[in-house]
Amino acid sequence: ITFQKAELVVSAPDKKSWPETDLPEIVLAGRSNVGKSSFINTMCGRKKLAYVGNTPGKTRLLNFFNLDDKYMFVDVPGYGYANISKTQLMKFGQMMEDYFAQRKQKKGLVILVDARHKPTEDDITMLEFARYYEIPVAIVATKTDKLPTTKLKNQLKMIRKTLELNDDEPLFPFSAEKKEGMEAVWDYLIPIFES
Ligand code: GTP
Ligand code: MG
Repeated sequence: ITFQKAELVVSAPDKKSWPETDLPEIVLAGRSNVGKSSFINTMCGRKKLAYVGNTPGKTRLLNFFNLDDKYMFVDVPGYGYANISKTQLMKFGQMMEDYFAQRKQKKGLVILVDARHKPTEDDITMLEFARYYEIPVAIVATKTDKLPTTKLKNQLKMIRKTLELNDDEPLFPFSAEKKEGMEAVWDYLIPIFES
């Protein structure tokens, strides 16, 4: 899949700034530094659409990306980094709550986890948001290029078990570095965008 146009529409600090469109949206969430922005860039065939940083927690706002006036990706600030204040944590929770409770065109959630690590409580909280609001949810295990192939299978099993994934909650291995896993994820996402 390729897009003629892929652009950042708005970085929204609160719901007043959400774009007024009815394009279907898929939300990308995950720990800080897990590779959300890299995932967006890879999936859209762009190098610098979403900001990829070395400083964890760079993406602070909900970033809405318009793909060919057809689909929207929503990049969520990475959670789980140290030194976050209680106020920031509350704001983050409120922002997600507002989005899930009020955004009509939300179609699905993708939670990114690092293929090398055990998912965290925060990942589980995100998963529960999706289950509560009954939107389709998938897990993408990123940075698989950093794992020897012999270990990948067991890591995926461990991730599935930790998150207690149901049969309708798929888990996709993915590498932005090697550009692996894109097709499977698009095959899953397109029917959701179109639903
Ligand atoms: P925040 O916006 O801070 O939450 O981070 P993020 O989740 O958007 O992560 P980002 O895409 O900025 O990537 C963080 C770091 O991981 C960068 O140095 C990326 O180059 C690196 N990275 C992302 N994906 C991969 C991957 O598939 N393989 C490897 N080896 N590195 C990756
Ligand atoms: Mg980011």
